[in-house]
Amino acid sequence: MATFPHVFQPKFDEVLQQDFELKGKWHEYFNNNHPIVLELGCGKGEYSLALAKKYPENNYIGIDIKGARIWRGAKTSYEEKISNIAFIRTRIEFILSVFAPEEVAEIWITFPDPQLPKRRSKKRLTGHRFLNLYRQILQPNHHIYLKTDSRELHDFTLETLSERKAIIHRKSTDIYNDFPDDSVLGIKTFYEEMFLKEGKPITFVDFTLLNE
Ligand SMILES: C[S@@+](CC[C@H](N)C(=O)[O-])C[C@H]1O[C@@H](n2cnc3c(N)ncnc32)[C@H](O)[C@@H]1O
Repeated sequence: MATFPHVFQPKFDEVLQQDFELKGKWHEYFNNNHPIVLELGCGKGEYSLALAKKYPENNYIGIDIKGARIWRGAKTSYEEKISNIAFIRTRIEFILSVFAPEEVAEIWITFPDPQLPKRRSKKRLTGHRFLNLYRQILQPNHHIYLKTDSRELHDFTLETLSERKAIIHRKSTDIYNDFPDDSVLGIKTFYEEMFLKEGKPITFVDFTLLNE
């Protein structure tokens, strides 16, 4: 991981008490002014990789805490010389130390752990606690996309959005029924392939957070 030029592994104290050195400088890193799109909990990075190839006019950053998973996407993108992608190994909780206000245009949340027990609801990536973090780094006209097999997390997300000011652009409880020809929604991650084999429908929400 340390040998990849496009993988960043901030140390705990680099993001806990202070700002990571590239905060506010990601456009300089990519050497362009193209929109920056994050994938949170990117795992092996399939979504970021597919989007980076499809949309060279955007920059993609996959974030995950597990290095062994990120390694897969990092290696493939390095070998394929894809220049509009990077990976950060850190906890999503530290996102404000890694990105400046309005530095990010879009966020994809792909198959996050649903954290279903009620006592773990604070860990859900579409709960108010995390949405409040995302809002601080996103541009006003952003999009947040959630893809999940968990109907409970999908419903929880819609309920959370109903408790705050937000626009829901699109939603579906079965994307392959509702949007069968959507080539972006049709990108499949490692986890999605597993859930599809189990016969689970895949849900989706596309939303924008408004000022409270
Ligand atoms: C179920 S996996 C999905 C991975 C990938 N998006 C996919 O669809 O194949 C959830 C991922 O989120 C990561 N993750 C969970 N909580 C996280 C956190 N707080 N910060 C960073 N990564 C986290 C895990 O390490 C794991 O790789």
